[in-house]
This record gives sequence, C-alpha cells and structure tokens, in this order.
Amino acid sequence: MTTIFRLDSSIRLEGSTSRAVADTLEAAIIEAEGSDTAVVRRDVGLDPVAADVWATSAFAGFVPEADWSPEQAAARKVSAELADEVVDADVLIIATSLYNFGVSQHLKNWVDLLIADPRFAPGTETIKGKPAFLVVARGGGYGEGTPRAGWDHATGWIRRVLEDVWGLDLDVIETELTLAEVTPQMAGLRDLAREQLAESHEAARAGGRSVTLKLRTAA
Ligand SMILES: Cc1cc2nc3c(=O)[nH]c(=O)nc-3n(C[C@H](O)[C@H](O)[C@H](O)COP(=O)(O)O)c2cc1C
Repeated sequence: MTTIFRLDSSIRLEGSTSRAVADTLEAAIIEAEGSDTAVVRRDVGLDPVAADVWATSAFAGFVPEADWSPEQAAARKVSAELADEVVDADVLIIATSLYNFGVSQHLKNWVDLLIADPRFAPGTETIKGKPAFLVVARGGGYGEGTPRAGWDHATGWIRRVLEDVWGLDLDVIETELTLAEVTPQMAGLRDLAREQLAESHEAARAGGRSVTLKLRTAA
C-alpha cells in the first residue's frame, strides 16, 4: 500500500490555489496507486506548530538526552513526530504560497523542526531519492524580464532544502498570477493566469501518473 504525506501551508482554505493543485495531484496519485492509498495530512497553514518549539528542540541537540528538561524532551518529541510522518511516507506533497516575497513562516518552522531531528540534519540521507512534489502558488509574476524577477525568495530556498539537503526526487509545479482574478490592475493578465492554472493542474495529473513508475523503480 502506498502512503502519501501531504503538507499544506496556505493560510486559507477557500480559494487556495496551492491546495487545489495539490488536490489534483493527490487524486492522480490515488488513481494510479489504488483506492487503498493512505494520505497522512499535516496542515501547518491552518494548524501551525507553535513557533517557540523549534528553539527548544534545536537547543536540545546540544545537551545529552539524559539531561533534557521536560520542555526539551517535549519539543524533541514534536520534531520526531513530524519527522516520522515524512519517513513513513512513500511520496511527499508539499504545498505552499509566496508570502511577502518569502517562505511561509509555518513551512519554515516545519522544516526547522524536522532538521532538529537527527534523521533530517544536513548530511543525512534518510529520505534520499523519495519522490516528492513541491506545489507553489504566487499572486504576482516573477519570470525573467519582469519587474519582480528575483523577488521570490521562497521557492529557491525550499528547493535547496528538499533537493539538495534532503536529496528528494523533486518535481516542482508553480502557478503564478493567482491574484489576477481579484486585482483590477492585473485584469489584462487574467487569460494568462487561467492558462497557467490549467497547465499546473495538467502537470499535477501527469506528476501523479509518474509516481507509480518512480516507486517501482525505487523498490
Ligand atoms: C499576507 C499575504 C502576503 C502575500 N504576499 C505576496 C507576495 O509577496 N508576492 C506575491 O506574488 N503574492 C503574495 N501574496 C499572494 C499569494 O501568494 C497568492 O494569493 C497565492 O495564491 C496564495 O496561495 P494559496 O492560493 O494557496 O492560498 C500574498 C498573500 C497574502 C495573504
């Protein structure tokens, strides 16, 4: 049986593009892998882990386990639980949004908490080669030659962690211009936005179909 780990980090449910594209991807994986596919969900957008747990978990790493305070033991337990969800899954879906030109603080907190677990420290290979999808939604446009080219400081960072630090076999599905529908100044970009959204859903369907081969090759 295949297990999907799905992380959402959009701070909204209604109208979320990252969630909608991740839904398409999840459904495509289930269609390919069978209806007994399990989905383990972690929604840090709507149910974030408290921000101060990370510092406690990180500093516990500098103290022998026998000397952990109750707070340090509890924080390391949170890191371990988050890490278990990822280790136990066969395929990962990480859905996120661009906020204030950077990464969602809740996604950053989740990554930091995972890295505090020894299995996810830089240099480890715990989830190396695991199939994974990064689904990104951005309100504006950041392509080469546009005024805001280079201003997306989220996607590069999360790619570094997922691909280079943890060694995942990563596919990235990016949707831009999601604010075009609701922003009068972006009205001229609506057709392009709709085209990009349709392409993202198609990429999600194709990505979902590709998982079976990846899992068989890895087995
Ligand atoms: C608080 C906030 C800050 C945002 N900052 C940016 C930004 O810096 N650049 C951008 O292109 N879009 C920005 N957006 C728009 C989101 O990236 C866009 O709505 C995206 O689709 C959100 O993901 P979701 O649709 O999955 O919720 C922001 C949205 C919110 C709510």
